[in-house]
Amino acid sequence: MMAFRTLDDLGDVRGKVALVRVDLNVPMQDGRATDLTRIEAVAPTILELADAGAKVLLLAHFGRPKGERSSTLSLSLVQGAVEAVLGRETMYISELAGPIVQQSLGIMRPGDIGILENTRFWAGEEKNDPELAKAIAANGDFYVNDAFSAAHRAHASTEAIAHLLPAYAGRAMEKELKALDAALGNPEKPVAAVVGGAKVSTKLAVLEHLVGKVQHLIIGGGMANTFLAARGVDVGKSLCEHDLAKTAEAILDTADQAGCTVHLPYDVVVAKEFAANPPSLRTCNVHEVAADEMILDIGPQATEALADVLKTCRTLVWNGPLGAFETPPFDTATVALARTAAALTREGSLVSVAGGGDTVAALHHAGVAADFSYVSTAGGAFLEWMEGKELPGVAALTS
Ligand code: 3PG
Repeated sequence: MMAFRTLDDLGDVRGKVALVRVDLNVPMQDGRATDLTRIEAVAPTILELADAGAKVLLLAHFGRPKGERSSTLSLSLVQGAVEAVLGRETMYISELAGPIVQQSLGIMRPGDIGILENTRFWAGEEKNDPELAKAIAANGDFYVNDAFSAAHRAHASTEAIAHLLPAYAGRAMEKELKALDAALGNPEKPVAAVVGGAKVSTKLAVLEHLVGKVQHLIIGGGMANTFLAARGVDVGKSLCEHDLAKTAEAILDTADQAGCTVHLPYDVVVAKEFAANPPSLRTCNVHEVAADEMILDIGPQATEALADVLKTCRTLVWNGPLGAFETPPFDTATVALARTAAALTREGSLVSVAGGGDTVAALHHAGVAADFSYVSTAGGAFLEWMEGKELPGVAALTS
């Protein structure tokens, strides 16, 4: 694993100013944060630094305001949620750099926490502008990045700034990088990957990377239909990217050469309409899908076979559901396989790492998120990591 400094490498921070990049990009409804997971993830780092006597300035983006101030995307809207999770008062600072921040620091005492305004109100943020990074860095003594979920962006607050101040990984970042390394960097073999979701086109790079890394690739969701169709299966009116047949074949060939077994379902759950518990629901062999039916989940035999595969594996990486899991009963295979993975993890025979918005929702739905070895709160960053890409925010911490 790449070497990076952590909070353990910090000396005495009393009275020093810590610029801490966090991900406060939380979903909101009617002015309230509806999911506090990301804030909970970074709370240990913030509290550790505050308790050690640092003045903590939080750096974060919120939404995509594209370089302009927007009253609906001000981080002042998230301040209440941050305070609720931390159990501390914070100071909202309406700027990102400059004299207002300096004055605020003059008022703050060691251990106080300030929330700087949305980094993306400044156009230089997304341009990774060294001048903006310099202006932000001017108010800090050191920089901590605890936002893995924003580390796939080379932005001023995630990349450029890390070169201007002593830079450290926060506790959440550290945990995430270790978990990801155990899953794909340096995993115990055999490794299985579950890749699901609607479309192959959004995860091509993930599939291409994984076939060279894992021993078992389990493909589910709408993506599996594209692979089945490429193999000559008539998938009826299932969601399917027929134009990607050649690409799917190439992935299957590469897998073959690399010794990676690709698992496609041989029985499936189909219906004539996509609705909860539709009257036309039935389970059949993949070769028996009628022209007016669509595949909406993996069948019970395939699910059992996949559970047997997981039992032979030591490591699992999971991204994407196996069926249309938001609509019952098409959550059945995802829930069953997630429970198998959770049970194997509890027994100690499997290291299981999952990530991506849908995946996390599916694991919560199955009631097993807490049983996985690690569940990443990252969306795009998790996918890019699964593609084998170097994440600029992580690379900047190691160089
Ligand atoms: C996320 O929500 O995945 C991260 O906060 C990154 O946000 P972005 O996709 O707008 O860069």
